[in-house]
Amino acid sequence: MSIDQDLKIAVILGSTRTGRFGPVVADWLLGHLGAREDMTADLVDLAATPLPTVFPPFGGELPPGEAELLAAVSPRLAAADAFVFVTPEYNHSFPAPLKNAIDWHNQQWHGKPIGFVSYGGLSGGLRAVEQLRVVMAELNSVTIRNTVSFHGAAQAFDADGKPRDPAADAAAKTLLDQLAWWAHALRDARRTRPFAV
Ligand SMILES: Cc1cc2nc3c(=O)[nH]c(=O)nc-3n(C[C@H](O)[C@H](O)[C@H](O)COP(=O)(O)O)c2cc1C
Repeated sequence: MSIDQDLKIAVILGSTRTGRFGPVVADWLLGHLGAREDMTADLVDLAATPLPTVFPPFGGELPPGEAELLAAVSPRLAAADAFVFVTPEYNHSFPAPLKNAIDWHNQQWHGKPIGFVSYGGLSGGLRAVEQLRVVMAELNSVTIRNTVSFHGAAQAFDADGKPRDPAADAAAKTLLDQLAWWAHALRDARRTRPFAV
């Protein structure tokens, strides 16, 4: 396997709300990822691939049907070299379906970097991102310093799904460049020495 093999980036879209704005933000980010030669994107849309919301007892079996729901998501997280969470802010935090997706998994996050693209009302989702940093540290992930955030998200994009402020595109490039550095460094490290807790 070549050490320069494309980085696999799982983009996790955390909003599942009916009528959500999230796909506009995710599609814009996927455009940036598609233009890069060093990354391959996989959109994990938690509305399209919903996960169970009731956990089994420790060591217990999942009820029929629920293992299939997990199987639509878990291998894709395991295969990823890095993640970008696209998240809105709900009540000063991130949406419950995103926390649910995080909690169903463990090793899939270990030793991998996570970048954030956030959006919201006045806050631009920044409080959601700061909370995610704390959560993902518990899962042995590294979070990327630079983020992209959109306040007043619905007004921040034009009818073609492009941000009105070109600074957003520059910020996306910086975020993805930083993510690439960490993703290469941590993938090389995991290949040399499997992550051990
Ligand atoms: C339940 C709920 C709570 C919200 N709380 C906040 C908030 O605390 N801060 C903020 O800036 N925007 C808040 N908003 C606005 C959303 O971030 C904004 O509408 C965003 O577009 C929602 O993402 P979605 O359309 O993909 O679901 C809230 C929206 C909802 C539905």
